[in-house]
Order: sequence, then structure tokens, then C-alpha cells
Amino acid sequence: MKKTVLVTGCTSGLGLGLATYFAHRGDRVLVHGRDAGRLGLLADTLCAAGGDVESVVGDITEPASVAALCESVGALTDRLDLIINNAAVGGGTDPRRREVNSAGTERRLAGNYLAPYQINRRLLPLLAPQGRIVNVASIGQLPIDLDDLGFTRDYDGVEAYCRSKLALIMDTIDLGGQGVHANVLHPAHLMPTRMVRDSGFVPEATMDDGLLPVLRLALDSALADVKGAYFDRFDRAEPHPQARDEQVRKTLSAWAAEQVGL
Ligand SMILES: NC(=O)c1ccc[n+]([C@@H]2O[C@H](COP(=O)([O-])OP(=O)(O)OC[C@H]3O[C@@H](n4cnc5c(N)ncnc54)[C@H](OP(=O)(O)O)[C@@H]3O)[C@@H](O)[C@H]2O)c1
Repeated sequence: MKKTVLVTGCTSGLGLGLATYFAHRGDRVLVHGRDAGRLGLLADTLCAAGGDVESVVGDITEPASVAALCESVGALTDRLDLIINNAAVGGGTDPRRREVNSAGTERRLAGNYLAPYQINRRLLPLLAPQGRIVNVASIGQLPIDLDDLGFTRDYDGVEAYCRSKLALIMDTIDLGGQGVHANVLHPAHLMPTRMVRDSGFVPEATMDDGLLPVLRLALDSALADVKGAYFDRFDRAEPHPQARDEQVRKTLSAWAAEQVGL
């Protein structure tokens, strides 16, 4: 059956591969990006190849923009079969440069945690009964400092990225606990994408190495009853132990809800 799929971060890397896969498969794909021009080109290319593709624009680091993105999705469809939160802000070219959004929130936590937090909650009413959420995290995980969520001390962009990814894993555990079909994964180690190159890492994996585990979480019927789980590629794995601290998850989630106005 034709699915309606939202993929964030489609203008490059893994997201581009995912959008292309679903469009070629005949699904209806809502492609997200932050640059309307590049996104339009992508949508035109996929449509010219026979795809059923629509664009939604938004900056994942700005909660108001993410809320608008969700409204755009709601205007395009009343049903989603898949939400793939793929877009993310990497460690950056200068990891010592602390970046914040317009509200002063640390940018990686805003983009990689608050954005999926908000998207998943605002769009949950559209998720079909058998629908799934796939959150793309990373094996790079570091504990959250609840006393310094803004990471004002000894800032490092790659560390901020790792904190944000653990936060995303924590939220997926919570969603799973609430009965939502949400899972989270590390797709592959060092795919040849911009965020990897920006941080000075040498790619070790192919795009397909990352694509296949994401597609499996999205589509494999054997995972129909698996919720709130973390996968290291194809294998169920344990995230950083802080993810199992219920009190940390509760405090973080309450902070997130306030930040995004939910
Ligand atoms: N590459 C790896 O080895 C690796 C390993 C583990 C996990 N991951 C995860 O895999 C996912 C895909 O990353 P990738 O490797 O494909 O990297 P990428 O090519 O750098 O893609 C990142 C995507 O996020 C989008 N994005 C970045 N900042 C944004 C913003 N402020 N607003 C809206 N969109 C924004 C980018 O848009 P633009 O095209 O406009 O830049 C791009 O589409 C991420 O969640 C990443 O953390 C990757």
C-alpha cells in the first residue's frame, strides 16, 4: 500500500537517499529542507521521475519554524505512515564556536532534540494506527548536564551533538513507553556526508550502510511490536546509561515542552 512519508533533511546525505528511495517506491513523500530553492529542485527532480513529492520548509533549530513546518504538513495530509527525523546539525567546522538559536538555546540541542520532540508530538494525531516514527540518532552519545543545558562551560560542538543525540534517544524511549511506535538508531559509522567532512572525520561507510538500517526500522514487519528501542544499525543495543534514568528523562522532557510551547 502506498505510504505517506515525512523525511526531514532531504537536501543532502542520508535524507536525500531516503527521499529518493520512497519516491521511487511509489510512496507519497513530504520532503523537508531548510532551503526552499534546493528543496524545490529536489522535489521537481523526483516528480519528473514519476514521484509523488511535496516540499515542506523549516529551520530545525528554530521552534517557531518547526511549528510552521508541522502546520505545512497538516495542510498537505491528514495521514502519515512514517515520520523519519533525519535532519541534524553536526559538530561543525569550528567545534569551539558555541552557537545558539534566536531564543539563545544551544543550536545542536535545539535542532537535534527539540525539533524531533516537537514534530513527533504535533504530528502524532496524523500518524496512522500502524504508523511509525524513526529517529536518527548516533552512536556518539554523551550525558546531558541538566544544570547546564545551554552547554555554557567548556563548549565543544561535537560533544554538543553527542548530548543532543542522547536526548533524542531518551525521548524515543519515552514515546515508546507511551505506546507510540517510535524507535531510534545509529545508522552507520562515518558515512560520506557533509557533517562528517565538516568535523574533519574521514568517511568509513557508504550511504547504503546507513540507508538500510533506517529502512528496516521503517518497514520491517518483524518490528511491528518493537517500540522505544535503540538500534546500533541492525542490532538492538543499549544506549548510554543516562538514557535509562527516568528522572533525567522527565526533567529534560518538561524543559523541552516549555521550549517548544507544548
Ligand atoms: N554521517 C554519519 O556517519 C552519521 C553517523 C551517525 C548518525 N548520523 C545521522 O544521520 C542523519 C543524517 O545526517 P547526514 O550524515 O546525512 O548529514 P548531512 O548530509 O550533513 O545532512 C544533514 C541534513 O540536515 C539538514 N539540516 C542541517 N541543519 C538544518 C537546519 N538548521 N534546518 C533544517 N535542516 C537542517 C541538512 O540540510 P542542508 O542540506 O541544507 O545542509 C541536511 O539535509 C543525522 O541525523 C546524523 O546525525 C550520521
